[in-house]
Amino acid sequence: MDMQKIGLLGFGTMGAGIAQLIAQSGRDVLVLETAQERIDAGMVFLADFLSGGVARGKITEADSETIKGRVHGVLEVEDLAGVELVIEAVTENPAAKKSLLSKVSSVVGADVPILTNTSALSVTDLATSVENPGRFAGLHFFNPAPLMKIVEIVRALETDDGLVETLVSFVESIGKEPIVVKDRPGFLVNWLLMPYLNDVIQAYDEGLATAEDIDVAVRLGLGHKQGPLELLDLIGLDVHHHATTSAYGATLDPTFAPPPLLRQLVAAGHLGNKNGKGFRTGGKVTE
Ligand SMILES: NC(=O)c1ccc[n+]([C@@H]2O[C@H](COP(=O)([O-])OP(=O)(O)OC[C@H]3O[C@@H](n4cnc5c(N)ncnc54)[C@H](O)[C@@H]3O)[C@@H](O)[C@H]2O)c1
Repeated sequence: MDMQKIGLLGFGTMGAGIAQLIAQSGRDVLVLETAQERIDAGMVFLADFLSGGVARGKITEADSETIKGRVHGVLEVEDLAGVELVIEAVTENPAAKKSLLSKVSSVVGADVPILTNTSALSVTDLATSVENPGRFAGLHFFNPAPLMKIVEIVRALETDDGLVETLVSFVESIGKEPIVVKDRPGFLVNWLLMPYLNDVIQAYDEGLATAEDIDVAVRLGLGHKQGPLELLDLIGLDVHHHATTSAYGATLDPTFAPPPLLRQLVAAGHLGNKNGKGFRTGGKVTE
């Protein structure tokens, strides 16, 4: 496998991180955005991240310049003709993603793999928007993409076996650890995480312990690096609420049902770190 020219859709938080990873692996990246300002913003984000790496002695200034030089912004889907693999990382809106994927699939070669970085949408459903869905799969990076080691390769109902093998090599070639997972709500990591966080919220609501002690228990008793309530504040209570509600809707599995306290907190505007109102952040909203 020697894919040298990669197409990327979206240059936001995830797009910038993914562009950096691919450019670091020696490949050229064409990033499609909706406006020149979005391309400029993505380049600033990427440059800032690389500067941090230079400051910490992880990469040289020269490497940073080379990496930036491999990333090129484009504004027309047609500019992606000739890429050898496409990764979609645009805003999480199913209709907008499908419309873009459909256009892209008619511009790139019929066998060019097209991958989505969606967190919560069905990969099998998104695959229906491309010609030849056997070349479609999920490639789920974690945030921040340059630092998080794992990438989930999501096998949709019609994904070709050969594509999965290609993606395992591709993920390894950008220095990440691939895991292959079925197309289910939350894939694997979030499939495991959502019921756990719901249980923790329920335990807290029932007064088993204070928020701080629950985090201490998980850090010291289970050896996790982060307590679950700190993690919820970081993720955003609204983001977890949306994800677990959507997984519950798709499966009717009660472990995904959003706990009543979570629903109340989100309705009252307690969103976690992003507005300083969370289980462990400022405001002491729940204690
Ligand atoms: N942020 C996370 O923690 C995270 C983690 C894993 C996966 N994801 C997934 O990655 C995807 C992107 O998330 P994000 O956090 O980077 O979002 P973001 O809002 O930071 O960036 C999305 C970018 O897509 C661009 N865009 C929208 N429509 C476009 C179009 N038609 N053509 C080209 N560009 C377009 C926007 O201008 C924006 O710059 C989503 O599907 C999200 O679910 C996010």
